Amino acid sequence: MSVDYQFPEGFWWGSAASATQMEGSKNGVSGETIWDHWFQTEPNRFFEGVGPDQTSDFYSRYKEDIKNMKTIGHNSFRLSLSWARLIPGGEGDVNLEAVDFYSKVIDELLANDVEPFVNLFHFDMPIEMQEKGGWESREVIDAYVTYAKVAFDLFGDRVKKWFTFNEPIVPVEGGYLYDFHYPNVVDAKRAIQVAYHTMIAHAKVVKLYHAEQDGKIGIVLNLTPSYPRSQNPADLKAAHICDLFFNRSFLDPAVKGEYPVDLIALLEEHGQLPETQPEDNQLLQSNIVDLLGVNYYQPRRVKAKDHMPNPDSPFMPDWFFDNYEMPGRKMNVYRGWEIYEQGIYDIMVNLRDHYGNIESFISENGMGVQDEGRFLKDGRIEDDYRIDFIKGHLKWLHKATSEGCNVKGYHLWTFMDNWSWMNAYKNRYGFYSVDLATGERTAKKSASWFAEVSKQNGFNS
Ligand code: BG6
Repeated sequence: MSVDYQFPEGFWWGSAASATQMEGSKNGVSGETIWDHWFQTEPNRFFEGVGPDQTSDFYSRYKEDIKNMKTIGHNSFRLSLSWARLIPGGEGDVNLEAVDFYSKVIDELLANDVEPFVNLFHFDMPIEMQEKGGWESREVIDAYVTYAKVAFDLFGDRVKKWFTFNEPIVPVEGGYLYDFHYPNVVDAKRAIQVAYHTMIAHAKVVKLYHAEQDGKIGIVLNLTPSYPRSQNPADLKAAHICDLFFNRSFLDPAVKGEYPVDLIALLEEHGQLPETQPEDNQLLQSNIVDLLGVNYYQPRRVKAKDHMPNPDSPFMPDWFFDNYEMPGRKMNVYRGWEIYEQGIYDIMVNLRDHYGNIESFISENGMGVQDEGRFLKDGRIEDDYRIDFIKGHLKWLHKATSEGCNVKGYHLWTFMDNWSWMNAYKNRYGFYSVDLATGERTAKKSASWFAEVSKQNGFNS
């Protein structure tokens, strides 16, 4: 039986999650991450004072969760390993309890025909590594490469799709520019060093993987298209610079093995180039990704600046553009993000036309909504808004596949309601709701709808 939007055979249907957000950092033996540390020192920064201790307790309930994944037609699922759990402190002895846990999770996924996509780093720096300087330190890069080797040696026989980082720009923005991640530094020069070193760490791990393993390795980037307010050259320039800072600073080195010349020139002009080593260029050039995960939630709209920045204020990417609120934009008011479905298509066309049509997939897309209890009917959350959101994006993704874009799948953020960093449990994103008091999981309407989509490899409008 054919459907209106039929996806290519073997399309990856699933969802994504991360260790800190679902395992519960107080479950089992684990080292501490920057999140545990920050929550202990500044609990007021977290919505309703809720921290990462328990989260949705995947650590104890993974069997039930994986069974539910199968029930709703997942053929793939992205999780992340916690560096601090696998190697408490970030370097030294491997935690055998963690090896056992991740091994069982991977085996359970495979036994349920759900392919594990495994990510090595999702915002969760071990606190000891942060104290050594985090990504500002080359020593930490070495420790990360050792951690990656441990993970590949332990699980590489069963896991064939690996990712070095999830949204590496976010710790740069949050931790070193805009004060929404630990270590809460506001310093563009340091931010740029962190971004650069993250890519060096990435390339070293890609090199290691290709030398020793036989699957695919990639990176997950949040590509946020920068749309100019108008076609006026000043607005176009603002959008171009914004794209350089927030997309191409990771996309170009990951896929093309080099930084955009315009970005280098701009940083040089303002005395903001990072410290480099002579062998770095060759390392980046020779170690590009096999596969790209694309997280897409919202577009970015920009315009030329209305006012010149104060020359004494600290250098910031925002010196070159102002954010622009398009009149009449469609919003997810709970998260404060614009909903613009066509963005997913524009990203894919850009990858097709300017990035060698690299193999990619939507590794996150989703809609966080507050107080979903309002939509409870006969014990189930009727989240039609989420179904509409997914459908709207899938229609554009379908158009991309039919026009030759090399996109292989769609993963929702996220499988079950989980802990969202500073927003804690404010907005719920899951296919399954989680009762925080009892831990009970209940499928939302979107879960049943998605099961059909996966079964039919497509859907009707
Ligand atoms: C992505 C992250 O940025 O968006 C997730 O990879 C995150 O970790 C998700 O949870 C949704 O954003 P938020 O801030 O609402 O949790």
